[in-house]
This record gives sequence, C-alpha cells and structure tokens, in this order.
Amino acid sequence: MNIRIPLKRQLARIEAATSGYLDQIGWITTRAAGLATDKAGHPIPWFTYPAIALLSDRVRASWRVLEFGAGMGTLWWSQRVREVTAVEHSSTWASQVAAQCSARILRAADDTVASYVGSAHGSGPYDVVIVDGLYRNECLEAATDLLGSGGVIILDDAQREEYVPGIEHLRSMGYRMLPLHGPQPVSKHPGCTSIFYRDHNVLGL
Ligand SMILES: C[S@@+](CC[C@H](N)C(=O)[O-])C[C@H]1O[C@@H](n2cnc3c(N)ncnc32)[C@H](O)[C@@H]1O
Repeated sequence: MNIRIPLKRQLARIEAATSGYLDQIGWITTRAAGLATDKAGHPIPWFTYPAIALLSDRVRASWRVLEFGAGMGTLWWSQRVREVTAVEHSSTWASQVAAQCSARILRAADDTVASYVGSAHGSGPYDVVIVDGLYRNECLEAATDLLGSGGVIILDDAQREEYVPGIEHLRSMGYRMLPLHGPQPVSKHPGCTSIFYRDHNVLGL
C-alpha cells in the first residue's frame, strides 16, 4: 500500500488549519464559533468568500442597502454604507441584530409571504438589494421595483434548484448573473453567491 498519499492528505489538512487559505480567511474560526466573522472577529456577510472580496473592494459609503434576512452581514454593511434596512422574520434575532448596529430592522407583521416581502414596499430606491432570508423567489421579483438606477441584486445560495424561478425572472428582465462559487463562513459546504446586474451598475460590472 502506498502510504504517501494519506500522509500528504494529513499534511494538507494541518496546513489548511494552521497557515493555509482557510485559516487566512478566518474560516476555521467561523466554523468553530458558528458565527460569520473574519479572522479578527469582525462581522462578515454569510456569502461566499469570493463575493465578500469583490464587495469589500467596491462598496461605497453613499449607498442605501436593503437586506432580506438579517445577520452578521447587516453589521458589516452598517459599518460601510449610509443606510441599511433589513427585513427579518424572527423577532428574537431582529432584536439581537438591532442592538449591535444602526440598521433599521423591519419585522414582518406575520410570517406570510405578502407580509414579509411587502414590509419593504415603497422603501426604495436602493443601490443593493440582498435576498438571503425567507421567500427568495418572491423577494427577487419584488427587488427589481426596489432598486434605483444602476442598483444590483445579491442572491445567496443561488446554487439551489428552488431559486431557479426567481433567477429566470431576473434574466427575463435583462439582468445578467455573476455566480461567485466558493467556500463560505460557518458551513463546511461550498456555496454560490450571485450578483444580478444590468449596464451602468453601482459595482462597475
Ligand atoms: C442566511 S441568514 C441571513 C444572513 C445575513 N444576510 C448575513 O449575511 O449575515 C437567514 C436567516 O437565518 C437566521 N439567522 C442567521 N443567523 C442566525 C443566528 N446566529 N442565530 C439565529 N438566527 C440566525 C435569521 O432569521 C436570518 O433571517
């Protein structure tokens, strides 16, 4: 039996955990703590790392951001842009997030799709609409009316078959899709955070 391959595998695991890419981006820390932070413990969005890198480079302080599904990402955006509004279905989680940042957290009156999606109705225009909570297909449909000129939509977990209707809707409206596959905080599984954009958008895509 060739024992060199198992040994190399063990070495690769040790390197990843102590000095490799996964350690450098803070994944080991997020996996252990179950919380999306960078290596220094600062909050980061629960997006794939390639998406976080692209957004970190291009985010602008003048933006208004709407996020369906609050979390550590709400804290990250709040430290970087003029205004953040988040729609959150869990009152306990909404209170926890609100206590840590200046974002406006909208609580849906009940857990129906109309109440959840409708709670952001008329609050635009936004530069970025993030779809990362409940009822993602319906949120993707509503997002186009909430965007300002040049605004972009971010869908997390875009690899999931169940979001194909929402993605097809955006495509039918002329949006192009930039899928950013890769590892993500907390989870041991890779994911896909996708950005939907048209010409002359705020990200310069
Ligand atoms: C994928 S998370 C939203 C993540 C957020 N957009 C971000 O980038 O950090 C979707 C839902 O999970 C719930 N959630 C996320 N983190 C949580 C936590 N640490 N404890 C309890 N609920 C959480 C919230 O209800 C949230 O709406």
